[in-house]
Amino acid sequence: MKDTFLWGGSTSAFQFEGGAKEGGKGMSFYDTISANAKAAAENTESWMGSNKTKDYSVTSDFYHHYEEDIQLMAEMGFRAFRMSIAWTRIFPDGDGEINPQGIAFYRNVFSLLKVNHIEPVVTLYHWDMPQSLIDRYHGWYGIETVNAFVRYAETCFREFGEYVRYWLTLNENNMTVMIPAFGTGMKMSKDDPAYESFKYTVYHHTNIAHFAAVKKCHEMIENAQIGCMFASALAYPLTSDPQDVLMARNHNQKLNYDYLDLLTRGRYTPKNTYEMNRAGFWISEEDQDLFADPNAIIDFISFSYYYSVCAGTEQNAADENAGTVQMMYQAMSNPRLKQSSFGWTIDPVGLRILMNDLYDRYQLPVMIVENGLGVKDDVLTEDGKVHDDYRISYLREHIRAVKAAVDEDHVECLGYLPWGCIDLYSASGDREKRYGFIYVDYDDDCRRYRKDSFFWYRNVIATNGKDLV
Ligand code: BG6
Repeated sequence: MKDTFLWGGSTSAFQFEGGAKEGGKGMSFYDTISANAKAAAENTESWMGSNKTKDYSVTSDFYHHYEEDIQLMAEMGFRAFRMSIAWTRIFPDGDGEINPQGIAFYRNVFSLLKVNHIEPVVTLYHWDMPQSLIDRYHGWYGIETVNAFVRYAETCFREFGEYVRYWLTLNENNMTVMIPAFGTGMKMSKDDPAYESFKYTVYHHTNIAHFAAVKKCHEMIENAQIGCMFASALAYPLTSDPQDVLMARNHNQKLNYDYLDLLTRGRYTPKNTYEMNRAGFWISEEDQDLFADPNAIIDFISFSYYYSVCAGTEQNAADENAGTVQMMYQAMSNPRLKQSSFGWTIDPVGLRILMNDLYDRYQLPVMIVENGLGVKDDVLTEDGKVHDDYRISYLREHIRAVKAAVDEDHVECLGYLPWGCIDLYSASGDREKRYGFIYVDYDDDCRRYRKDSFFWYRNVIATNGKDLV
C-alpha cells in the first residue's frame, strides 16, 4: 500500500450533522419527515424506512461536536474524512440567496481538517433534496432543480475549493433508475403508462447535474479530483447453468455498468438509449455534447460495497417492497456465505473481484467510500467501552481483500473510507444499526465513546495496513 493511501471514514449530512434548525439552514426532504413524519411518508415515495426514523433534526450532532470529532479522527490517524454538504445549509431554498452562516460552518470544518492533515472527501448531494425544490419543481423531475444544483456546486467549488481536493457528485445515483420518485414528492406506480418516461426524465436530469458539476469542478479548482458514487451490488451466477451466468451478467450490467459506462464514456449504452427512446425520451444535442466533453469525465470511481448477491433462474424476483433499497437487490442468498443480522451477505472476496472488474474495465483509480458492518449488537458498558470484535473481524477481512487487490492484483486504489465511522442514523431508519469506531449515545447529549475497533483501526492506519491483528 502506498504511503499516500487514504485511510479514513465516511458520513453524510442528513444522517450525521444535525443542527437542522440552526445557522439559517433551510428544510430538506428529511427535515420534512422530522416535522411531520406521517404526512411525509404519505406524500412522498417511502423508501429506506424513511417513515421509521421520525426525527433527523439532531442525529449525531456533528454540527456541535465537529471539533471533538475531528480530534478523535486525528487520534485514529485518519488521512481522509468523507462528509456531505447539506445543500439547504448553503441555499436554504435550494436556489435563491446564499446563507453565509452555512458557508462559515463548512469553512470551519474544512480548515480544522486541514490543520489535522485530514483530506476532506466531499459529497455534494447525499439525498437531502431541498424541500422548496420538491414543492416547486418536483425535485430532479424539474430541470430547474438541475440548474439550482449546478449553481450550488459552483458555490461549493468557489467557497471550499482551497480546502477540498476530492469531490463526489451524487450519492449512489445508479439507484435512481430503481427509485426515481424518491425526493420528487411524486407518486408514480410502475404500472402507469407514463412511468418509464418519468423514470428516464428523473435519471437523465441527475446525470446532467453530475456531468455539469464534474466539468465545473475541473474548470474551477486546480488539481481537483472528482468522482461519482455508485452503489455496488456484485452478482454471481448461482450455478454454472449458462442461463444463471447470463442473469448475473445482466444484473451487473443493469445495476452497475450501465451507469459507469455512461459516466466514463460520455454516452448511454445502446440498450439504455433504445429503452429511453422507446419510452418517448430523447436526449438533446446540448446534453450529448456535455456528456461527451472530456472535462466532464470523472477522475476516479468511488463506490459503496457491503455485500454480493446471487442471480439464477430459480430465484424469486427481487422484492420491491423490501424494507430497504439494499434488500431489493438481494436476490438469492449465496449458500456458501454467511449474512449479517440485517441479512446482508458478508463477502470480502467480492470486494477484491469488484475492484479488479472496475479497474480492468475503466482503467481509473477506485476509492471505497462505504463499507462496514451495521449491527444492533453494540453495548456500552458501565465503564464506557464497546467490545465490537464482530466489527473488527468484518473490517479485517475486507481490508485484507483491498490489500490483495492493491498489492497482488495492482489495482490503483486511492483509499478506504468505511461507513459511519462515528455512529450515525441508518438510512434504513434504525438509529441503533451502528457502524462506527466511535459510539454515540443519542440519549445522553450525543456523548462519544471509543469502541474496541477504534484502537484496532488506529493501529491498522499507523502500520499502513500491515498489522491487521
Ligand atoms: C448507503 C448509503 O446506501 O448505505 C448510506 O449511501 C447508508 O446513506 C448506507 O446509510 C448503509 O445503509 P443503512 O441502511 O445500513 O444505513
